[in-house]
Amino acid sequence: MKDQIEAIQAEALASIAAATDTRSLEDARVAVLGKKGTLTEVSAGMRDVPKEDKAAIGALLNTARSAITAALEEKQQGLQDTADRKALEGIDLTLPARALHHGSLHPLTIIRHQAISILRRMGFALAEGPEIEDEFHCFDALNTPADHPARNEKDTFYFDSGKLLRTHTSTVQVRTMETQAPPVRIIAPGSAYRRDEIDATHLSVFNQLEGLYVDTDVSLGDLKGTLEYFLRELFGSATEVRFRPHFFPFTEPSFEIDVKLHAKGQAPRWVEVAGCGMVDPAVFEQINASRKDSTYDPEKVTGFAFGMGLDRLAMIRWGLKDIRLLIENDARFLKQFA
Ligand code: DAH
Repeated sequence: MKDQIEAIQAEALASIAAATDTRSLEDARVAVLGKKGTLTEVSAGMRDVPKEDKAAIGALLNTARSAITAALEEKQQGLQDTADRKALEGIDLTLPARALHHGSLHPLTIIRHQAISILRRMGFALAEGPEIEDEFHCFDALNTPADHPARNEKDTFYFDSGKLLRTHTSTVQVRTMETQAPPVRIIAPGSAYRRDEIDATHLSVFNQLEGLYVDTDVSLGDLKGTLEYFLRELFGSATEVRFRPHFFPFTEPSFEIDVKLHAKGQAPRWVEVAGCGMVDPAVFEQINASRKDSTYDPEKVTGFAFGMGLDRLAMIRWGLKDIRLLIENDARFLKQFA
């Protein structure tokens, strides 16, 4: 039996050495170690070996098996190395790789982050409210009566339920005052929806940033100082800003804020970026009625509010002549912000 085992081992090692690919190597393995392999069959003969020889023969079998397994592994590795080397032949490893494309934040995200960070430094906390609103929070509570043009079906997206897509983020002023007592100092960035014709300065889904500050003795001077400071922080100290008297139902007095837009290849022009004003006492009365208390006593508290168009701020910030660039997802445009 000893001779037989040695012969099997020698034969197996020879056929392993002779194998030229993984296929012939596998055949060599099966021939010796497979279910019907030569070594497997000799091992089965162990039961007939006399007791006194069992240990020696067993050791011999083990040695043969280890030698064959080691040879198989080594050959396998060798074949793999050869295949790898072959695969790399003709490839120039010094060729520079293709450039990676870096992703970037969308300009609207960038401007929103910057606006929030400036206002947070000034003590404003973030607040939010739903985009699907009811008429009370979008209009009635903001002193906007049923016959006001903003409530027209031609201007607002209504659902059959009577709810609507909020036309402005001023709804968050109402929701905040319903649940919090003064002093209130909040900002609420978010989407707003209008049935506007889309053009170079209008989108039907757009982005606003609302602000509200209510306390005792809040003045128009606070409003102007806060917003001028904000705009200069965002756009630089040379920014030209103009407050233009306007009308909003929920503020009195009210203003629109224009900032000079310097778009490439165009003459500088004023672009309206925000509405603002002193909270109308009628709004406080509505809030009190909704809260069923007199927390917002118009004799005791005053406040200012503002609503900015984030898309418009982005236009000013980067000198964009067309607001639609912000929603077209043209990689040639977006790449510039990487
Ligand atoms: N909600 C107004 C709009 O979308 C903007 C606005 C004006 C917001 C005056 C305010 C404000 O908070 O006080 O046109």
